[in-house]
Amino acid sequence: MASLSEAPYGGRVRAYYDAATSGYLDFLGKTFQAGVLDTGGAGPSAARYAASNLRLAARAGISPGQRVLDAGCGVGGPAIDIATTLPGLRIDGVTLSPVQAEKSRELIAAAGLQERVRIQVADYHTLPFPDATFDTVVFFESSGYSPDPLGLFREVLRVTRPGGRLYIKDVFRLARQLSAREQAELDEFNHIYVHHTRPLGELAEAAGRAGYSGVETACLDADITTRFMEEAMIGDLQEPSLTPFGEVHFRPFQVLPITFGELRARRP
Ligand SMILES: C[S@@+](CC[C@H](N)C(=O)[O-])C[C@H]1O[C@@H](n2cnc3c(N)ncnc32)[C@H](O)[C@@H]1O
Repeated sequence: MASLSEAPYGGRVRAYYDAATSGYLDFLGKTFQAGVLDTGGAGPSAARYAASNLRLAARAGISPGQRVLDAGCGVGGPAIDIATTLPGLRIDGVTLSPVQAEKSRELIAAAGLQERVRIQVADYHTLPFPDATFDTVVFFESSGYSPDPLGLFREVLRVTRPGGRLYIKDVFRLARQLSAREQAELDEFNHIYVHHTRPLGELAEAAGRAGYSGVETACLDADITTRFMEEAMIGDLQEPSLTPFGEVHFRPFQVLPITFGELRARRP
């Protein structure tokens, strides 16, 4: 059998999430995002993640009755939060990880959403849906796994209805020249998460070239907290000690050149 580092990239992403999903579930919960759109509320992390997912849905323009594709859906945490709140919404999710798809079925059944949320194993570069199926396509911290954004956007455009929307929230690389130390930390970050962290502007350019119109981007750093991801890795921030999730993911980064951002666009 080929070693992980020799396997094709998609195989490495699948292997990473098949192996890491139980740790995410145990230490982060059913939403696998480092950044929570936070308004400074109180309460447990599950409630804060749910509130963040609803804010993301609103920013994406998701409304009751739509058909939505969650591209890179994890175990369906955001889809469940959003479908629970918005009536008549149907969400299809795709993930590369069979372990995530299996777990999502349990979570979707527990939420009583089997008729409205469906998750399958598929690659978002080759989607198993007919042309013009979806009103909105969202990527919540999942677009950074694409080695080919232009090919990705052409495919996502194909399954979007005319006038339909694309919304992406993700981690991006700072656009400026990086120092050697920043580059080394970014390389390590990409290695840990099997990620392709790129500047938001590159993604916007690819969306425009693929045929989207009204491509807009914004920085989300002022509204994002990574506190829950930090707690998942090192427990109580006052008395830090590595959790099993942290043993795999934590590094003492000092100058990691990343930023949170969003992209919105429309199919003409
Ligand atoms: C950081 S997780 C985010 C999961 C989810 N959006 C959430 O908020 O919980 C990244 C997800 O992207 C998925 N992914 C990465 N590359 C993919 C691809 N080529 N096709 C489909 N899903 C992909 C992974 O399987 C994983 O579910």
